[in-house]
Amino acid sequence: MIVGNNSASRVYVDNKKKACAEIGIYSEEYALPEETTQEEILKIIDELNKKEDINGILVQLPLPKHIDEKAVINAIDPKKDVDAFHPVNVGKIMIGDFDFVPCTPAGVMELIKESGIDVQGKECVVIGRSNIVGKPQAMLLLHSNATVTICHSKTRDLKEVTKRADILVAAVGIAKFVKADMVKEGAVVIDVGMDRDENGKLCGDVDFEEVKNVAAAITPVPGGVGPMTIAMLMKNTVKSASIK
Ligand code: GUN
Repeated sequence: MIVGNNSASRVYVDNKKKACAEIGIYSEEYALPEETTQEEILKIIDELNKKEDINGILVQLPLPKHIDEKAVINAIDPKKDVDAFHPVNVGKIMIGDFDFVPCTPAGVMELIKESGIDVQGKECVVIGRSNIVGKPQAMLLLHSNATVTICHSKTRDLKEVTKRADILVAAVGIAKFVKADMVKEGAVVIDVGMDRDENGKLCGDVDFEEVKNVAAAITPVPGGVGPMTIAMLMKNTVKSASIK
Protein backbone atom coordinates (compact mmCIF):
# COMPACT_ATOMS: atom_id res chain seq x y z
CA MET A 1 0.00 0.00 0.00
CA ILE A 2 1.24 3.46 -0.89
CA VAL A 3 -0.54 6.62 0.23
CA GLY A 4 0.15 10.08 -1.20
CA ASN A 5 2.76 11.40 -3.62
CA ASN A 6 6.18 10.76 -2.04
CA SER A 7 8.44 10.27 -5.09
CA ALA A 8 11.03 8.15 -3.24
CA SER A 9 8.25 5.87 -1.94
CA ARG A 10 6.95 5.53 -5.49
CA VAL A 11 10.37 4.27 -6.67
CA TYR A 12 10.69 1.85 -3.72
CA VAL A 13 7.21 0.39 -4.28
CA ASP A 14 7.82 0.02 -8.03
CA ASN A 15 11.06 -1.85 -7.28
CA LYS A 16 9.27 -4.14 -4.81
CA LYS A 17 6.54 -4.90 -7.37
CA LYS A 18 9.18 -5.60 -10.01
CA ALA A 19 11.01 -8.01 -7.70
CA CYS A 20 7.74 -9.86 -6.98
CA ALA A 21 7.03 -10.20 -10.70
CA GLU A 22 10.58 -11.42 -11.42
CA ILE A 23 10.43 -14.26 -8.91
CA GLY A 24 6.77 -15.16 -9.35
CA ILE A 25 5.14 -13.66 -6.26
CA TYR A 26 1.58 -12.43 -6.92
CA SER A 27 1.16 -8.83 -5.78
CA GLU A 28 -1.60 -6.23 -5.57
CA GLU A 29 -0.95 -2.51 -5.31
CA TYR A 30 -3.22 -0.18 -3.34
CA ALA A 31 -2.13 3.30 -4.46
CA LEU A 32 -4.26 5.74 -2.48
CA PRO A 33 -4.49 9.52 -2.79
CA GLU A 34 -2.94 11.88 -0.21
CA GLU A 35 -6.35 12.77 1.25
CA THR A 36 -7.27 9.13 2.10
CA THR A 37 -8.63 8.83 5.64
CA GLN A 38 -7.25 6.57 8.33
CA GLU A 39 -10.54 4.64 8.38
CA GLU A 40 -10.19 3.86 4.66
CA ILE A 41 -6.64 2.58 5.17
CA LEU A 42 -7.63 0.47 8.17
CA LYS A 43 -10.57 -1.01 6.24
CA ILE A 44 -8.31 -2.19 3.42
CA ILE A 45 -5.80 -3.65 5.89
CA ASP A 46 -8.63 -5.51 7.62
CA GLU A 47 -9.73 -6.98 4.28
CA LEU A 48 -6.17 -8.00 3.41
CA ASN A 49 -5.71 -9.56 6.86
CA LYS A 50 -8.66 -11.82 6.09
CA LYS A 51 -7.70 -12.70 2.50
CA GLU A 52 -6.44 -16.30 2.29
CA ASP A 53 -4.37 -15.68 -0.86
CA ILE A 54 -2.42 -12.75 0.63
CA ASN A 55 0.56 -13.72 2.82
CA GLY A 56 2.29 -10.37 3.15
CA ILE A 57 1.10 -6.80 3.72
CA LEU A 58 3.45 -3.85 3.31
CA VAL A 59 2.44 -0.25 3.96
CA GLN A 60 5.13 2.01 2.55
CA LEU A 61 6.29 4.65 5.03
CA PRO A 62 6.16 7.56 5.56
CA LEU A 63 2.40 8.03 5.56
CA PRO A 64 0.78 11.49 5.14
CA LYS A 65 0.84 13.66 8.28
CA HIS A 66 -2.86 13.23 9.13
CA ILE A 67 -2.48 9.43 9.41
CA ASP A 68 -1.45 7.76 12.69
CA GLU A 69 1.40 5.54 11.47
CA LYS A 70 1.43 3.51 14.67
CA ALA A 71 -2.29 2.67 14.39
CA VAL A 72 -1.79 1.52 10.80
CA ILE A 73 1.18 -0.73 11.65
CA ASN A 74 -0.71 -2.14 14.65
CA ALA A 75 -3.64 -3.06 12.38
CA ILE A 76 -1.55 -5.43 10.22
CA ASP A 77 -1.84 -9.11 11.19
CA PRO A 78 1.62 -9.89 12.68
CA LYS A 79 1.62 -13.13 10.65
CA LYS A 80 1.46 -11.06 7.44
CA ASP A 81 3.80 -8.28 8.62
CA VAL A 82 6.65 -8.92 6.17
CA ASP A 83 8.30 -5.61 7.14
CA ALA A 84 8.49 -6.80 10.79
CA PHE A 85 7.28 -3.41 12.04
CA HIS A 86 4.38 -4.68 14.21
CA PRO A 87 5.12 -4.51 17.99
CA VAL A 88 4.68 -8.30 18.25
CA ASN A 89 7.41 -8.86 15.66
CA VAL A 90 9.62 -6.12 17.14
CA GLY A 91 9.35 -7.88 20.52
CA LYS A 92 10.21 -11.23 18.94
CA ILE A 93 13.34 -9.73 17.41
CA MET A 94 14.34 -8.41 20.82
CA ILE A 95 14.21 -11.89 22.37
CA GLY A 96 15.81 -13.54 19.34
CA ASP A 97 12.82 -15.72 18.42
CA PHE A 98 11.50 -14.36 15.14
CA ASP A 99 10.13 -15.41 11.75
CA PHE A 100 10.36 -12.03 10.00
CA VAL A 101 13.57 -10.01 10.09
CA PRO A 102 13.33 -6.28 9.31
CA CYS A 103 14.38 -6.05 5.67
CA THR A 104 17.16 -3.44 5.71
CA PRO A 105 19.00 -4.75 8.80
CA ALA A 106 18.60 -8.31 7.44
CA GLY A 107 20.12 -7.17 4.14
CA VAL A 108 23.08 -5.68 6.00
CA MET A 109 23.65 -8.96 7.88
CA GLU A 110 23.47 -10.92 4.62
CA LEU A 111 26.04 -8.62 2.96
CA ILE A 112 28.39 -9.10 5.92
CA LYS A 113 27.94 -12.89 5.87
CA GLU A 114 28.31 -13.25 2.10
CA SER A 115 31.51 -11.20 2.24
CA GLY A 116 33.01 -13.77 4.62
CA ILE A 117 33.19 -11.33 7.54
CA ASP A 118 32.75 -12.88 10.99
CA VAL A 119 30.76 -10.62 13.33
CA GLN A 120 31.44 -12.56 16.54
CA GLY A 121 33.34 -10.50 19.11
CA LYS A 122 33.70 -7.52 16.75
CA GLU A 123 33.15 -3.90 17.74
CA CYS A 124 30.07 -2.87 15.74
CA VAL A 125 28.89 0.72 15.79
CA VAL A 126 25.48 1.71 14.39
CA ILE A 127 24.91 5.41 13.70
CA GLY A 128 21.15 6.03 13.95
CA ARG A 129 18.43 4.75 16.28
CA SER A 130 15.33 4.50 14.08
CA ASN A 131 12.77 1.74 14.60
CA ILE A 132 13.21 0.68 10.96
CA VAL A 133 17.01 0.37 10.88
CA GLY A 134 19.16 1.46 13.84
CA LYS A 135 17.47 -0.41 16.69
CA PRO A 136 16.77 -3.72 14.87
CA GLN A 137 20.24 -3.58 13.28
CA ALA A 138 21.80 -3.41 16.73
CA MET A 139 19.73 -6.41 17.87
CA LEU A 140 20.70 -8.55 14.86
CA LEU A 141 24.39 -7.74 15.39
CA LEU A 142 24.02 -8.55 19.08
CA HIS A 143 22.37 -11.91 18.24
CA SER A 144 25.50 -12.61 16.14
CA ASN A 145 27.65 -12.04 19.25
CA ALA A 146 29.03 -8.63 18.30
CA THR A 147 29.79 -5.91 20.84
CA VAL A 148 27.32 -3.23 19.78
CA THR A 149 27.18 0.53 20.29
CA ILE A 150 24.34 2.71 19.01
CA CYS A 151 25.20 6.36 18.34
CA HIS A 152 22.81 9.21 17.64
CA SER A 153 22.52 12.97 17.46
CA LYS A 154 23.17 13.40 21.21
CA THR A 155 26.23 11.13 21.35
CA ARG A 156 29.27 12.87 22.84
CA ASP A 157 32.55 12.62 20.88
CA LEU A 158 30.85 10.76 18.03
CA LYS A 159 34.09 10.47 16.10
CA GLU A 160 35.81 8.75 19.02
CA VAL A 161 33.01 6.17 19.13
CA THR A 162 32.80 5.52 15.38
CA LYS A 163 36.60 5.14 15.19
CA ARG A 164 36.35 2.12 17.51
CA ALA A 165 34.24 0.23 14.97
CA ASP A 166 35.45 -2.89 13.19
CA ILE A 167 32.08 -2.76 11.45
CA LEU A 168 30.38 0.63 11.04
CA VAL A 169 26.74 0.86 9.92
CA ALA A 170 25.60 4.35 8.89
CA ALA A 171 21.83 4.87 9.11
CA VAL A 172 21.57 8.53 10.01
CA GLY A 173 19.86 10.02 6.96
CA ILE A 174 22.36 12.84 6.37
CA ALA A 175 24.20 12.99 3.03
CA LYS A 176 27.95 12.14 3.25
CA PHE A 177 27.87 12.47 7.05
CA VAL A 178 30.60 9.87 7.70
CA LYS A 179 34.04 11.24 6.77
CA ALA A 180 37.39 9.44 6.57
CA ASP A 181 38.54 10.76 9.96
CA MET A 182 35.56 9.00 11.63
CA VAL A 183 36.60 5.55 10.39
CA LYS A 184 39.30 3.18 11.64
CA GLU A 185 41.82 1.94 9.06
CA GLY A 186 40.61 -1.44 7.77
CA ALA A 187 37.03 -1.13 9.03
CA VAL A 188 34.02 -2.54 7.20
CA VAL A 189 31.64 0.32 6.34
CA ILE A 190 28.00 -0.29 5.45
CA ASP A 191 25.94 2.60 4.16
CA VAL A 192 22.18 2.43 4.67
CA GLY A 193 21.62 6.07 3.62
CA MET A 194 19.47 7.15 0.67
CA ASP A 195 20.19 10.86 0.47
CA ARG A 196 20.69 13.62 -2.11
CA ASP A 197 23.97 15.53 -2.35
CA GLU A 198 24.32 19.29 -3.02
CA ASN A 199 23.65 18.64 -6.74
CA GLY A 200 20.55 16.54 -6.09
CA LYS A 201 22.42 13.32 -6.94
CA LEU A 202 21.56 10.13 -5.02
CA CYS A 203 24.21 9.37 -2.37
CA GLY A 204 24.55 7.69 1.01
CA ASP A 205 25.34 8.67 4.61
CA VAL A 206 29.02 7.94 3.94
CA ASP A 207 31.39 10.12 1.93
CA PHE A 208 32.31 7.18 -0.31
CA GLU A 209 35.21 8.87 -2.17
CA GLU A 210 36.95 9.72 1.13
CA VAL A 211 36.10 6.65 3.18
CA LYS A 212 36.95 4.06 0.48
CA ASN A 213 40.62 4.90 1.04
CA VAL A 214 40.41 3.98 4.75
CA ALA A 215 37.92 1.09 4.77
CA ALA A 216 38.76 -2.55 4.01
CA ALA A 217 35.29 -2.96 2.51
CA ILE A 218 32.52 -0.46 1.81
CA THR A 219 29.05 -0.57 0.23
CA PRO A 220 28.12 1.92 -2.53
CA VAL A 221 24.91 3.97 -2.83
CA PRO A 222 23.05 3.18 -4.99
CA GLY A 223 23.61 -0.55 -5.46
CA GLY A 224 24.69 -1.66 -1.97
CA VAL A 225 22.13 -2.16 0.78
CA GLY A 226 19.09 -1.05 -1.30
CA PRO A 227 18.75 -4.18 -3.47
CA MET A 228 19.39 -6.33 -0.40
CA THR A 229 16.41 -4.76 1.38
CA ILE A 230 14.15 -5.84 -1.45
CA ALA A 231 15.65 -9.33 -1.56
CA MET A 232 14.97 -9.73 2.18
CA LEU A 233 11.37 -8.57 1.70
CA MET A 234 10.95 -11.34 -0.88
CA LYS A 235 12.49 -13.82 1.56
CA ASN A 236 10.10 -12.78 4.36
CA THR A 237 7.14 -13.11 1.99
CA VAL A 238 8.11 -16.62 0.88
CA LYS A 239 8.61 -17.54 4.53
CA SER A 240 5.18 -16.14 5.42
CA ALA A 241 3.55 -18.25 2.71
CA SER A 242 5.39 -21.37 3.82
CA ILE A 243 4.61 -21.14 7.54
CA LYS A 244 0.97 -20.02 7.46
N1 GUN B 1 10.17 3.36 4.23
C1 GUN B 1 11.51 3.34 4.25
N2 GUN B 1 11.97 2.07 4.38
C2 GUN B 1 10.89 1.29 4.43
C3 GUN B 1 10.70 -0.12 4.54
O1 GUN B 1 11.63 -0.92 4.64
N3 GUN B 1 9.40 -0.55 4.54
C4 GUN B 1 8.36 0.30 4.45
N4 GUN B 1 7.14 -0.21 4.48
N5 GUN B 1 8.49 1.61 4.35
C5 GUN B 1 9.76 2.10 4.33
